[in-house]
Amino acid sequence: MGFDQRIAIVTGASGGIGQATARRLLQGGANVMLADLRQDRLDALRADLDRDFDPARTAVVTCDVSREDQVIAAVDATIKQFGAWDFVVNNAGTMLFKPIEAQTEQDWRGILDVDLMGAFFYTKQAFLRMRRGGAIVNVSSVHAVETEPLVAPYAAAKAALLSLTRSAALEGKAKGIRVNAVLPGAVDTPMLWDNPNVKSGVEVIDKTDVGAPEDIAAAIAFLLADEARFVDGTSLRVDGARLARL
Ligand SMILES: NC(=O)c1ccc[n+]([C@@H]2O[C@H](COP(=O)([O-])OP(=O)(O)OC[C@H]3O[C@@H](n4cnc5c(N)ncnc54)[C@H](O)[C@@H]3O)[C@@H](O)[C@H]2O)c1
Repeated sequence: MGFDQRIAIVTGASGGIGQATARRLLQGGANVMLADLRQDRLDALRADLDRDFDPARTAVVTCDVSREDQVIAAVDATIKQFGAWDFVVNNAGTMLFKPIEAQTEQDWRGILDVDLMGAFFYTKQAFLRMRRGGAIVNVSSVHAVETEPLVAPYAAAKAALLSLTRSAALEGKAKGIRVNAVLPGAVDTPMLWDNPNVKSGVEVIDKTDVGAPEDIAAAIAFLLADEARFVDGTSLRVDGARLARL
């Protein structure tokens, strides 16, 4: 898959799936803007990537995806740095573990702001400023389809993200921008092993059901690539058949 001369933003870039995705897109020839909350983690990631790729092909920007002004600034910085913009991977995400009766309005708004509104803010900017032939991939979750106790706002946000994916694919068509989603299953990142449901045994994970961040990055790269030009508005489960079991 060739991404030469293409410019991508990856949100949540310093996390497990974000790092693997940035690396995969760089391997394909893209220039990548690494966006995340903390400058120190971005600097560490950039130093790591600079060992393997031309430093001129990466840049970093701190961006809280739940803040529209920061999303606009991140897109400004990308276009200033690389001259144009072709792809965004809406990967930033956060979870919360509480029974519904203990959840607050702020809990819900906090999760929805990051896991759903962040993708909306980037989609809006994409429709205003992305080049034709561009593509968006939203990183949802198998929780959009089936879920477990204690993660209601996360499951709701990830399900709504699939709905946004469909709506945006319809409206993006005339602009030459495709919009798809991936639904990762259990992926070997801190988000999985720090998960209180996994630690307590509420969620049991078979070792054979755990994928690598690179497995998700490969699916994201496919959906961004020109070879996927007729793949639009779809949700691709990448879970090693975890949800297929009776
Ligand atoms: N790891 C899994 O098993 C799994 C499964 C299904 C879906 N996912 C999804 O994959 C995506 C990446 O998760 P991961 O496993 O790499 O986890 P991670 O915790 O390693 O990475 C998440 C990244 O998002 C960033 N982030 C959080 N809030 C942000 C905000 N407001 N603005 C910008 N960045 C923010 C964090 O700083 C972190 O770098 C998430 O959307 C997650 O919901 C993960």
